[in-house]
Amino acid sequence: MREYIIGPIMQLLPMTGLPAKGPISDDQLSVIKEAGIHIRDGVVVEIAPFERLVKQAQIPVKELDAEFVGLPGFIDCHTHICYAGSRARDFAMRIAGKTYLEIAKEGGGIWDTVTSTRQADEDLLLSDLKYRAKLLLARGITTIEVKSGYGLDLEGELKMLRVIQRAQRALKVDLVSTCLAAHIVPKEFKGNVGGYLDMIISELFPILKSENLTKRIDAFIEDEAYTPENIKPYLDAAQRMGMDITLHADQFSSGGSELGVRYGAVSVDHLEASGPKEIELLGNSDTVAVVLPGASIGLGCNFAPARAILDAGGQVAIASDWNPGSAPMGDLLTQASILATFQKLSNAEVLAGITSRAAKALNNDDIGVLSNTKNADLILFEVGDYQEILYRQGGLSPKLIIKNGIMVE
Ligand code: NIG
Ligand code: FE
Repeated sequence: MREYIIGPIMQLLPMTGLPAKGPISDDQLSVIKEAGIHIRDGVVVEIAPFERLVKQAQIPVKELDAEFVGLPGFIDCHTHICYAGSRARDFAMRIAGKTYLEIAKEGGGIWDTVTSTRQADEDLLLSDLKYRAKLLLARGITTIEVKSGYGLDLEGELKMLRVIQRAQRALKVDLVSTCLAAHIVPKEFKGNVGGYLDMIISELFPILKSENLTKRIDAFIEDEAYTPENIKPYLDAAQRMGMDITLHADQFSSGGSELGVRYGAVSVDHLEASGPKEIELLGNSDTVAVVLPGASIGLGCNFAPARAILDAGGQVAIASDWNPGSAPMGDLLTQASILATFQKLSNAEVLAGITSRAAKALNNDDIGVLSNTKNADLILFEVGDYQEILYRQGGLSPKLIIKNGIMVE
């Protein structure tokens, strides 16, 4: 059906009209009762009381026969779901007491996945990526950001980004690719960070443009990866090309978020190590603070100070960081619900963090809210009240998922 009306939706939360930044209380949420949505060619035409919409328009009606709560499709604005291999051994070592950085220093960690991903052929990477993306779509994630960063040479990074592009052609869910060529320094360039980044800038970046592989550039700012000083040429080159910048920032030590804000990054992600200075900075900036509870759960460390960043006036989005190492779970709704209990986030703050505010982290105004001209990405939970969703802590999945106006089977 190209054009239809769907409803009645017992409670529709369009996630519109909310403050872009700072705290949000549940009573600020607009909740439309008995709502109908008129959809045409993948976008929303009108949201109005179902009865009125049906009377005024002579178009097909998809009538719902149970109680539903409707929301914009969820957005996972930070993942690494294009990879090969498993890091179950790392996990075993971590739960036995070794730290993530110790494992990395001993040559495991991210490098292990780089080795498996370099070895994997495109078709294997593609089928694994499609499998994970479909799993996320079934849980109501209608837009997924996917990073490269396990190639770390020209061939490997291009392979990953081309696989993400191929997967997009085969999938209903939208993938947003990001080049994370500056994830860690590849072994071949040990002691020669500048040489590696020169190669990336002069050889990889032009191809990103010519093949339209991505509009986003990411780097991991950490002692074991890149420093605010040595990453400068890479970020400057990204900026010259008009790319959006996003950073892995303040995961174990601070410095990254300050750098990101200085570069006008669309988002700085992780923030587990952000302190009072960084919290204030994020509160006063338009850079979205993306917190990744899945990495805290995967590593057994503290959550990012989401509450404090919101109270300082910041814009907090929540993402899964699904990757084979630090965040192997990949379940955004479960993680966001758990983060809410520890950080004392309201339903409104969490739901905005995985819809409207996550859309800002991806610099995309067409998603994350439901209103006229926006994408018809709609998820319907079979419950009578929206508060049931986080209360079930991930135990509840949407019953109906509509992506770009099309019902997902
Ligand atoms: O976001 N911190 C750096 N990168 C990823 C982990 C990648 C991995 O361990 O494979 C993260 O946590
Ligand atoms: Fe990450």
